[in-house]
Amino acid sequence: MAKNKNTNGHKPETFHIQTFGCQMNLADSSTLAANMITKGFKRVDSEEKADLLILNTCSVREKAENRVYGRLGEMYKYKKRRPNLKIAVVGCMAQRLGEKLKERVPHVDYVLGTDRQFELPDVLNGVEGTQQVMTAFGHENLDFITPIKETPHSGFITITRGCDNYCTYCIVPYVRGKEVCHSPGYIIDAVKKMVDEGVVEVTLLGQNVNSYKSGGIDFPELLERVVNKAKLPRLRFMTSHPKDLSKRLVDAMADTPQLLGHIHLPVQSGSNRVLQKMGRIYTIEHYLKIIDYIRKRIPETSITTDLIVGFPTETEAEFEQTLDAVRKIRYDSAFMFRYSVRPGTVAAKYNDDVPEEDKIRRLHKLIKIQQEIGHQVNQREVGKIRTALVEGKSRRDDQISRARTEGNKIVLIDTADLKVGSIISVNITRADAFTLHGNLSVLN
Ligand code: SAH
Ligand code: SF4
Ligand code: F3S
Repeated sequence: MAKNKNTNGHKPETFHIQTFGCQMNLADSSTLAANMITKGFKRVDSEEKADLLILNTCSVREKAENRVYGRLGEMYKYKKRRPNLKIAVVGCMAQRLGEKLKERVPHVDYVLGTDRQFELPDVLNGVEGTQQVMTAFGHENLDFITPIKETPHSGFITITRGCDNYCTYCIVPYVRGKEVCHSPGYIIDAVKKMVDEGVVEVTLLGQNVNSYKSGGIDFPELLERVVNKAKLPRLRFMTSHPKDLSKRLVDAMADTPQLLGHIHLPVQSGSNRVLQKMGRIYTIEHYLKIIDYIRKRIPETSITTDLIVGFPTETEAEFEQTLDAVRKIRYDSAFMFRYSVRPGTVAAKYNDDVPEEDKIRRLHKLIKIQQEIGHQVNQREVGKIRTALVEGKSRRDDQISRARTEGNKIVLIDTADLKVGSIISVNITRADAFTLHGNLSVLN
């Protein structure tokens, strides 16, 4: 094996990837794996069998980074046993910390940021100009990235990378760079390719898909083109930012059967003062108007959200406004977080003055209320017939199949051998806060 400066003569042949963070990271991991395979590396399904361990990381909250440090700590033990094992940290945390990550965790070999991670095979092959640590942004045109399906029947396609919103608490614009949109041609070709390979459900991804704009084409128009040009049964998208979610988009959802009934619309807070301090640009009244319009045009659509409690200066009364909003809106489900200071953001300069015990108490209260609501909302599904995509078996019982409804809810079905990737009709018979239960409808 030729010696190269990046591998010190021990070029790995097999690799394993673990992904943290959001669906964009999942999509990136699939793309990276495909790049690695094309360039001669072999993907293996366990860390024991791999010569290279890749962690695709998230920086959105301190806890997300701590989980990565925890994993890296465990990997130190493997590396002591197998000195030629290599470790690569890629993605958002790699972008945020760069060299500093190698200083803190010296047994990490490669640190490749969000724009550079796809060059990992070149780094391993010692291609001229590559280095073990690379974090410079600089790919203005990202259409060279090939989206790869996640499973034989579903795929994610990132349509916009980065974010220009700079919500004051959020690290994403710093670690993902400025917003860049993939061209409609690239997106349509990617969907078509997936459909040719048997994919039946595609999710279009972006931090704020509603701000998509490329060559005069906006998001509703992009959706229309995708639906018209690719024979795809099920199309989803996320995330929507309330400041840009247009009536046209809701109308498009109402009029296009392929566009599935789920909108993820992060509200973050129910207090206008807090929203303003977060830099979210909308008021809660504006948000409620959007919800009203969605419910009027597409009443069956599930609506989910993200919420932060304990943002700097949030008072108890303002937290109560968040609870009021949640009670009023009645989300199908929500991701709920305690505010976490992210170094370098605008909010990091504010005094993180809500005591940790108050943040925890507020979070528990919010979770309890939302779970009750989620449970009640799910009860409305009982007795209905829903179409769902079979994704596999229940994690607990292999006699039960797991499928995903149009509203993005998991439904467990009392039939063992349903074909993965098939679209079925399900009678919903029972519901709890997170899961629906049902049996095959006679329509199948
Ligand atoms: N682009 C999406 C969300 C991206 S991050 C949007 O604009 O809504 C996912 C979620 O993480 C955010 O919606 C927010 O609720 C949460 N989040 C982001 N930064 C955070 C922080 N510093 N502390 C706690 N939660 C945070
Ligand atoms: Fe972060 Fe705001 Fe961008 Fe979402 S829109 S990624 S919360 S800065
Ligand atoms: Fe995390 Fe990066 Fe996604 S910070 S939430 S993995 S864009």
